[in-house]
Amino acid sequence: MAPKPFPRRVISLSLLAAALSIAASASVAEARWYSPPSPVSAIVSEQLYASLFPHKDDAACPARGFYTYASFARATARFPRFGATGCPHTRKRQGAALPAQLSHHPTGGWATAPDGPYAWGLCYKEEITPASNYCDATDKQWPCYPGKSYHGRGPIQISWNFNYGPAGQALGFDGLRNPEVVANCSDTAFQTALWFWMTPRESKPSCHQAMVGEYRPGPADIAANRTAGFGLVTNIVNGGLECNRTGDARVSNRIGFYRRDCQALGVDVGPNLDCEHQLPF
Ligand SMILES: *[C@@H]1O[C@H](CO)[C@@H](O)[C@H](O)[C@H]1NC(C)=O
Ligand SMILES: *[C@@H]1O[C@H](CO)[C@@H](O)[C@H](O)[C@H]1NC(C)=O
Ligand SMILES: *[C@@H]1O[C@H](CO)[C@@H](O)[C@H](O)[C@H]1NC(C)=O
Repeated sequence: MAPKPFPRRVISLSLLAAALSIAASASVAEARWYSPPSPVSAIVSEQLYASLFPHKDDAACPARGFYTYASFARATARFPRFGATGCPHTRKRQGAALPAQLSHHPTGGWATAPDGPYAWGLCYKEEITPASNYCDATDKQWPCYPGKSYHGRGPIQISWNFNYGPAGQALGFDGLRNPEVVANCSDTAFQTALWFWMTPRESKPSCHQAMVGEYRPGPADIAANRTAGFGLVTNIVNGGLECNRTGDARVSNRIGFYRRDCQALGVDVGPNLDCEHQLPF
């Protein structure tokens, strides 16, 4: 799903908000009916965000100061269906699942870390020692630009030319010539994470669809046990390496973050937490 054009929507929302606040000031009783839409802050407040990522600005974290709540909120505003789909418990679970997947990737946590291993999300802006420049030279649609590296950057560690290219096209930056912007601009960084979350790719549903009941498994999905839930999100994100195997430490780590986030949001974790018995896409 391509994101909606940003400026028009923002202008119309702020005009709407202005109009509604005039209406609201006319009558306190009516104001309750006219609260301006702010789906994300209703689920993941600034305070909750700070408690989910308590060490992101520590001196030990290379990304200190980068992953601000304001950038997170602006990025989610560009994808208005995030956090605005389904019943309250569905919205909360999605509000728990995205931070959990963000926490897992650029995590600075380790088993005996202060406050436990799940407290060190959003510590890195980019992969420290990339194994390669993540260029798939066979991809002619999104050709690598000489000298550029498409290693993991941003909160979801977007990687490979075939992801940087379409992300940039959808979000308005040149992902192939200027992949560095994902580690230099926190708004763009969070937008790549939301883009990844909201956009179905190839044969996969989007993470959003997997979490909000918009996923319709086909016969091949059913045969492969790919049923909706947090485990399916892990399958979408990195199933080729992490699913269809028992006791994968990365999967346990993601589940650990998700459990913690669900507890913080006051919602149960829902079905199919694990992808142990799911075949990858
Ligand atoms: C962008 O980030 C890279 C590292 O990823 C850095 O070398 C470069 O100086 C940064 N550029 C700007 C304009 O901040
Ligand atoms: C699906 O899940 C069941 C029960 O967990 C398991 O026995 C079966 O092997 C799984 N199927 C596949 C294709 O992995
Ligand atoms: C799933 O795991 C089984 C057992 O390890 C293996 O034989 C099979 O090839 C795997 N399937 C896929 C699609 O990865």
